[in-house]
This record gives sequence, C-alpha cells and structure tokens, in this order.
Amino acid sequence: TDADGTRTFDLGIQAGETRFLDGPATRTWGVNGSFLGPTIRAKKGEKVAFNVRNGLSEATSLHWHGMHLPADMDGGPHQTVEPGATWRPKWTVSQQAATLWYHPHLHGKTANHVYRGVSGMVVLDDERTAGLDLPGEYGVDDLPMIVQDRAFDGDNQFDEAVPLMSTGGVVGDEILVNGTRGPYVDVSTRLVRLRLLNASNARLYNFGFSDDRPFQLIGTDGGLLPKPWETTRLQLSSGERAEVVVAFSPGETVDLRSYPSGSGFNDRLGGSSDRLDLVRFRAGGDLRDETEVPQNLGTAPDLASTEIAQTRSFELNSRTINGATMDMNRIDFGVRVGSTEVWEVVNTNGYMHNFHVHDVQFQVLDVDGRQPPPHLGGWKDTVQLDPDRKYRLAMKFSDFTDPDVPYMYHCHLMLHEDEGMMGQFVVL
Ligand code: C2O
Ligand code: CU
Ligand code: CU
Repeated sequence: TDADGTRTFDLGIQAGETRFLDGPATRTWGVNGSFLGPTIRAKKGEKVAFNVRNGLSEATSLHWHGMHLPADMDGGPHQTVEPGATWRPKWTVSQQAATLWYHPHLHGKTANHVYRGVSGMVVLDDERTAGLDLPGEYGVDDLPMIVQDRAFDGDNQFDEAVPLMSTGGVVGDEILVNGTRGPYVDVSTRLVRLRLLNASNARLYNFGFSDDRPFQLIGTDGGLLPKPWETTRLQLSSGERAEVVVAFSPGETVDLRSYPSGSGFNDRLGGSSDRLDLVRFRAGGDLRDETEVPQNLGTAPDLASTEIAQTRSFELNSRTINGATMDMNRIDFGVRVGSTEVWEVVNTNGYMHNFHVHDVQFQVLDVDGRQPPPHLGGWKDTVQLDPDRKYRLAMKFSDFTDPDVPYMYHCHLMLHEDEGMMGQFVVL
C-alpha cells in the first residue's frame, strides 16, 4: 500500500512447467508461477493498481471478470499487453463483496491462453459481509475451488488439438481443482464455504456431493443472495461462480462431484458426461463448531421496479449474435450512463451457449416470463442460456463513460467467444 492508500499487485504472466501426471511435466502458463495465479483480495472502497507484466513471447491481456471498472482498465481485447510490456490498470473497488476472477481476453486467443493456465480468483470484501457470521478464514473454512478440465496427450502435454475445437471447444476428462489433480482437503470446521468457479473452456459442471447431502447456496456471480437456498445440485457454465456452504460431521469423508447434467450438454461436446469426482473432503475427528448459516445475507436485486431506458434484443445462433460476428472496429451500440436497460437474450441455436456482460452485474428478471429459479435470483454477470428461452436481464450502467473504448458482451464458451460470438458497447 502506498501513501494515497493504493494497493499495488505485481502480476507476471509467464511460461513454465507443471507436474500433473507421472512422467514428463506439462508445459503451462501461469501468473507469478507456472499454473494459475494468486487470489487477489480487496475491499469495497479500496484503490487497487496492478503491474501486469507479460513475460510470454506473444501478446495477451488480463481481464477482470465481473468487475465494475472503467472500460480502459477492463483488460478486454483492446487492452493488449505486448511481450515484455507491463500494463498498469488501476481503479477504486466500488462493488459489494463477491467472488470474481481474472483471465486473458485477447481476441481469438482467449481459449488458448486460459487453457494453458492463465487465470486466478478475485475475492472482494465489504463491511456488511464481513459482519455476517459466515465461514471466512481463507484456506481453512473459506476455500477457492477453481474447476477446470483438461485433455492430456501421450506426452503429458495439454491436448489443444482435440477435434472438439470445432464445436464447443476443448473438453477433457481430467479434472484440475486449483491446478491439482485428485485434490483433498482436511476439514477442521463443521461449516465450510466453497467459492466455486467454472474456469473451464466449455465444460458444464453439475455440482453435488457423493452422498447427495444438501448444501446452501449463499452467493452468485455478483455477491451474496438475500437468503441461502438449500439444494443438492448446482450447475455452473463457463465463467460462472457460486458461493456455497456445506456442513460436515466429525470423521467423515465426502467428495464434491460433478454429476451428469440434465441437458446432456457435455456429451454433445464430446466429453464424458459421467460422474466426475472433483475434491475429497476429510473431516477431522473434532470439528470446530460454528453457528448456522445466517438467514439474512445480501440485498435482493432491485432493478425490476426501476424505469427502463431501453430494451434490446440479442439472438445467439451458431457463432453470431444478432447475425454478426465480432469486429474489433465495430461498436454495436452505446448506452447512457446512469440508465437501466433490459436485455432480452435468446439462444435460438439448439446448442448450448451462455451470455456474459462486462462492467455490470445484472438481475435476471424472468425466464420465458417466469420468475427465475433461486440460483438465478441474485446478481449475475454470466448466465447459461437453455435453448429457445427468453432471458430478460436488467442492468444499470453507472460511473464510467468512454466514447472510444468499448466493453464486451459474449458467449463465455471460450472457443465461441474467440470465433466471434461477441459484441461491443460503449457507455456514454
Ligand atoms: Cu470472463 Cu469477457 O470474460
Ligand atoms: Cu468478463
Ligand atoms: Cu456459445
């Protein structure tokens, strides 16, 4: 932290080697290490600054997924960091506590750069959330879970040439959590909070426990839900996050799994839809007791009753949005700062896509006219689009304007994004 209270993070994107399997090490990329990067933690109101050094031999970028920030700090395709260069974004964190993440966003290269290992988590705190009685000791009862799938070739290298690159993107049947294959956690408290992040290129996860125990969903992409929601399954598509709290009994062993999803989507991608074990939890004989999950968590999204300045329609089909593919030189539209808009998004493709918007957190007003399911009841920045349903998303654009530098909206299946399923808007 320097004199004016700015906290500066040094992030070096670099190539290295990581040992995931017996035999040869895998050539990987990472941030301040060989695979993935450090968790960045900051508080609402805090000034943050970054020295993002590109130590690779090719250009990349680093995008702050879920962050409300000026467009030229966003790290999208227009904020390229050339090899050897250092990019220095800075802003004041002005949003509520949430689990976000960072990853490269160079147009046409996102899938590739994320797959090699450049990603990390961002944990934002605020005073209100800190005052709640939730598990919150990082690494003890508050655990990041960066979930990724990989395919390895015969040489233990990441197989980027799987034929599936032509459909949804690469899908592998080896699972890494926080960069580790077959990880376990020794649990020392009764309640544990997991910050789940689907940082995979395409694979969908349908999270659940091996004994089908219920768990509490407490937060979605943009922060805590108004109330916890008890469930036994939770599906996250690429880019989505969730905070959940699970209870353990002394001495038990339970696995967090991904169960086949109802849609059969992973099958259609060509990856296995079988049950995949992700992380093993081994509870100690004596667990620190904690109180119950509080019933009042965050504040409910409240955009339903705001005046809507503009309604826009987005149709996702094949690799296009509204019939067009991404053009770095085309701004699709401008929105007015301070206004609330409703974006009606439909996937008419029969295939799976999701939809992510930069700069804002949105409220899912309804899905095909019906109230959204509980897991879509909080703030979101990425939403899975079941085919042929209309998702009405309300979002407010505030604080930052820039007539020249756009924000992105796109399908977060990283290959689709690279192939042009993306558009650009400016806030004026
Ligand atoms: Cu997670 Cu536009 O990205
Ligand atoms: Cu993003
Ligand atoms: Cu898509």
